[in-house]
Amino acid sequence: MVSADLVVRIGGEGGEGVISLGEILTKAVAHSGLNIHSFRTFPAEIRGGLAMFQLRGASGPARSLKQQIDVLLAFNQDAYDAYADRIKAEGILLYDPKLCAPTDKHGEAEAIEMPLEALCEEHTGGLRAKNMVGLGALLYVYDASLKYGEEMIRRTFGKKGDEVVNLNLKAVKAGYAYADEHRGVNKHSFERHPDRNQIILNGNEAVALGALAAGVEFIGGYPITPATPIFEQLCRDLPRFGGTAIQLEDEIASLASVIGASFAGKRAMTATSGPGLSLMSETLNLASMTEVPLVIANVMRGGPSTGLPTKTEQSDLKFAIYGTSGESPRCIMAPINIEDAFYQTVRAFRIAEKYQMPVIILTDQAMAYSSMNIDMPELNNLDLGTRFTPNPNANKKTFQRYAVTPNGVSPMPIPGEHDLPYMGTGLEHNEKGDPNYTPEAHEMMMAKRFMKLEVLGSTITPEEREEVEPEGSEVGVIGWGSTHGAITEAIERIEEESGVSVAHLHPRIISPLREWPIRRFLGPLKKIIVPEENYTGQFAHFLKAKFGIKPIEVHKAKGIPFTSEELYEAFKEVL
Ligand code: COA
Repeated sequence: MVSADLVVRIGGEGGEGVISLGEILTKAVAHSGLNIHSFRTFPAEIRGGLAMFQLRGASGPARSLKQQIDVLLAFNQDAYDAYADRIKAEGILLYDPKLCAPTDKHGEAEAIEMPLEALCEEHTGGLRAKNMVGLGALLYVYDASLKYGEEMIRRTFGKKGDEVVNLNLKAVKAGYAYADEHRGVNKHSFERHPDRNQIILNGNEAVALGALAAGVEFIGGYPITPATPIFEQLCRDLPRFGGTAIQLEDEIASLASVIGASFAGKRAMTATSGPGLSLMSETLNLASMTEVPLVIANVMRGGPSTGLPTKTEQSDLKFAIYGTSGESPRCIMAPINIEDAFYQTVRAFRIAEKYQMPVIILTDQAMAYSSMNIDMPELNNLDLGTRFTPNPNANKKTFQRYAVTPNGVSPMPIPGEHDLPYMGTGLEHNEKGDPNYTPEAHEMMMAKRFMKLEVLGSTITPEEREEVEPEGSEVGVIGWGSTHGAITEAIERIEEESGVSVAHLHPRIISPLREWPIRRFLGPLKKIIVPEENYTGQFAHFLKAKFGIKPIEVHKAKGIPFTSEELYEAFKEVL
């Protein structure tokens, strides 16, 4: 069977190994020369509940989650009940007859027994590796070599010992052979792109590697789903490059340690999620007030409160932009996909250093736990930026750490390295840094701090925004963050089917927004659609306030990302 794009979904109970299956399959399919996009969603409990993994393997670009699936592998009844109605009519259902009794929910799709437990018991003498039986069958469906699956099994379970590896190797072979013998389970052939210089990354890995590439020297963190893997990776890797990683007692202390490290001259960051960002808000103010550069990677999840800790949402935008007492400048960035998360993290450090302010990178659970194959970054060409340190001949007596300059940025010494006074205080201060509460000092310093934001906004060049010029378009879409792939695919389909062109703007720096190019984008449009994954339409509110537009808002707050099919329907309705 020839395919261009094949979507496989696996559902089972948390603890049964659905996620390990999906991860190994993803890597094996990517090694076989396909582009991949994976997504997973699971409950907050360590065991139990429904865990789901979806893989899209394609000859062309694979940028987003799909609604319709070609193959469902249901470990149990819950998985069947939840997902069977998404299988395409020409697709197949693979189910374990011991734990699942299909009804008519799968429609015209062919239902094929896949006795995961029975095969596993027969070939390995136990059930631990039953997910690898499923892996074998799905490798067959993708026509990905069994050897890639075996290699990934060795890498994944190697630390658990030879016995575990060997029984998993037996299980994957059994699944592959079963699929091969079974009528109805077909191999799909694809146009493949082997031997590319690529790596497979998820969104969290992209941020952690971006930080390492940017020369991060310190991370102070406190674990929180779904940002923990960024912290874990840097705890593991940063010391290898001479950096320091420490876990603090909570998020407030984490950010305080980052301010301390940055004050002492180190490139510093933390990683958190919404509830952690809320706790950090007052400390964030301190960073804005003392003009200390730092980066916060905030991986958004469903809120409020503990909310949906393992599900996605784009709901921290307003908090990130405005959420503090007083008015404190910070830059808010939103990478548009996994590859972009790497480069935007490098850029975040550059901006933080250049403008001496906190930079918050907003990703989300969907991006954090999705994987894509990307070209190996060219590390030698990265612009890492530098710190604006004082003139070596600066006079100790007259030096002003907070000197008012045309762009608001003042020289920043490294205590102990430059023999100059540097007092950083949360109190309002004068140019030297001494506390000063006069009306003149406050107004002057507010203007200085916000000047930096204004200058940053005016230096964002067009190629740094993702923009399709609205030439000839009367309808435009403005999105932010991880919805870029689904929006792009929905627009491509509309344009292919109807020939109507749709403009698309997807800024990577959300605040400050550079106003005139956006006004130019908006100019010819009769209708503007703003899709976002939250309940209230936070970005739409922001755009309304800034540009006085009345966009058509498309909201989704279900804990799972938009699919391109959903957006296609929404855009088509507007058109
Ligand atoms: N052979 C040996 N071991 C296997 C295996 C196999 N064939 N298949 C899976 N395993 C192991 C995995 O290595 C993993 O072991 P580990 O716990 O030592 O890492 C374990 O079995 C679970 O398997 P995995 O595939 O990773 O996950 P799963 O699909 O069974 O789902 C989760 C479990 C992910 C849902 C659950 O563990 C989890 O993390 N829940 C979320 C918790 C959370 O973040 N809560 C929020 C708090 S605020």
